[in-house]
Amino acid sequence: MTSLQDKIVLISGTGGGIGSEAALRFAEQGAIVFGCDLIAKNHQATADLLESKGLKLYGSGNVDLGDPEHAEKWINDALNQFGRIDVLFNNASAARFGNLEDFSVDDWYYTTRNELDHVFFATKFAWPHISNGGVVLNMGSTAAWRGTTATGKVAHSATKGAVVAMTRQLAAEGAKRNIRAVSISPGFIKTPGTAAFISNPEVKQQLLSGVLLNRLGEPSDVVSLAIYLASDQASFITGSDFVVDGGMLAT
Ligand SMILES: NC(=O)c1ccc[n+]([C@@H]2O[C@H](COP(=O)([O-])OP(=O)(O)OC[C@H]3O[C@@H](n4cnc5c(N)ncnc54)[C@H](O)[C@@H]3O)[C@@H](O)[C@H]2O)c1
Repeated sequence: MTSLQDKIVLISGTGGGIGSEAALRFAEQGAIVFGCDLIAKNHQATADLLESKGLKLYGSGNVDLGDPEHAEKWINDALNQFGRIDVLFNNASAARFGNLEDFSVDDWYYTTRNELDHVFFATKFAWPHISNGGVVLNMGSTAAWRGTTATGKVAHSATKGAVVAMTRQLAAEGAKRNIRAVSISPGFIKTPGTAAFISNPEVKQQLLSGVLLNRLGEPSDVVSLAIYLASDQASFITGSDFVVDGGMLAT
């Protein structure tokens, strides 16, 4: 067990690849996990997975965090049930990809809404209730740190860069209450969110070409880091971004 025992941990996107793994692994560490996802059946599938292991996933599906009213309700539901928030893991996201010349204004707004706005909404409503010693864990991306010719992702790069920058400021504003804020920037991880890229051998090869360890990442690679950063063992870490990318940014 880590120091996550009995912590109230809110995780968004618990129906997705990394979110599902996070719900399971945080619960295995003794945390009380309160999740949400836009897609109810995927959130439920994760709840069923935990139940099959004698664990419990709280929270609900049909939560659209890009709508501030939904975000506020999700936070309030957690508070009504558990009274405080120890960890807020802003993991959910949905992006559109495409080269700039084909990328519409609607694509831009869709991506900023579902990758950036909701991080602000959930954090804003949770902030007054985050406990002393609590943590905001945000999901960045290597897209925050470098461009690529493999796929067009102008909005995704912008939102993830903003999430990493926002995290530094949250660290600055949270320190007086002993709230830490940390971001994780994964490289290319095998999840439902990247299935379309993986199924295209040419794109997959391009995305793998600079990865020193020459494999796709697994959700567990990201969640192992998240568990450490959310725990009291990381109590002197705040404001930093942690890359987990198989060495892609190293060269
Ligand atoms: N997989 C990768 O290669 C990779 C790389 C870098 C960063 N990331 C980041 O990791 C996080 C998880 O990614 P993943 O690969 O597991 O994605 P995923 O698509 O498998 O899961 C994301 C989940 O978020 C949910 N979601 C999207 N918009 C939502 C909204 N408005 N309200 C509520 N839920 C919403 C989706 O329904 C989905 O279940 C994301 O922030 C992503 O940007 C992933």
